[in-house]
Amino acid sequence: MGVVALVPAAGRGERLGHRMPKALVPVGGVPLLARAVRGLFEAGCVRHVVVAAPPSDVEVVNEVTAPLAPAGGAVHVVPGGAERSDSVRLALLHALRELPGTTIVLVHDAARAFTPPGVVKAVVDAVAAGHPAVIPVLPVADTVKQVDAGGVVVATPDRSALRVVQTPQGFDARVLLRAHEAGGHATDDAGLVERLGVPVATVPGHPDALKITTPFDLAVAEALLVGGQA
Ligand code: C5P
Repeated sequence: MGVVALVPAAGRGERLGHRMPKALVPVGGVPLLARAVRGLFEAGCVRHVVVAAPPSDVEVVNEVTAPLAPAGGAVHVVPGGAERSDSVRLALLHALRELPGTTIVLVHDAARAFTPPGVVKAVVDAVAAGHPAVIPVLPVADTVKQVDAGGVVVATPDRSALRVVQTPQGFDARVLLRAHEAGGHATDDAGLVERLGVPVATVPGHPDALKITTPFDLAVAEALLVGGQA
């Protein structure tokens, strides 16, 4: 079973308010990207990680991540693209070209730096058990409204049927390649796979796998460290 994790980390992360790419912003002195990559390796089933870095920061990303690889594994750093989906596609093509034998691919945002290794393992196990696409999800705590362009409510979807989606998302490598070849815009990779008509299964996510986007999220992440949860 060849499991490779792709980490799109090429975003500028302007909403975080730092003068550096979000992936390199430290929490408790350790860059978000380093924490995310470490969590992937700690799951025990990932030996190779391909990081899509901001093109101007390939070297520094390499320095930050190379020491994290386990024996027999490696971190590969490639320049990312203009959009998240471009970064994923570039990392995927690198993995399929340089790591023959890759059968399962995970896509994991660097911004979800505190994802517990158990979530990574649950996703890999579900793909290995035969699901072509698997995503970690959480129930929705708030009521969600659909609004029109003027902000007027047009619908209230049944909350019990809604889920918040996290990463890593896991795929049969051929399915993810087909989805990216078909192209189109989606905010996550499962969205591209759904358009192929391929079923997407779910496993339980974890609150610690929050996406660190704003200064508030960063404060929550620091608090997780202080609380000894991460
Ligand atoms: O901007 P957003 O928070 O949605 O980005 C999600 C992830 O995609 C981040 O880890 C970010 O670094 C990555 N990304 C990327 N290439 C881009 C834009 C975002 O790898 N061009």
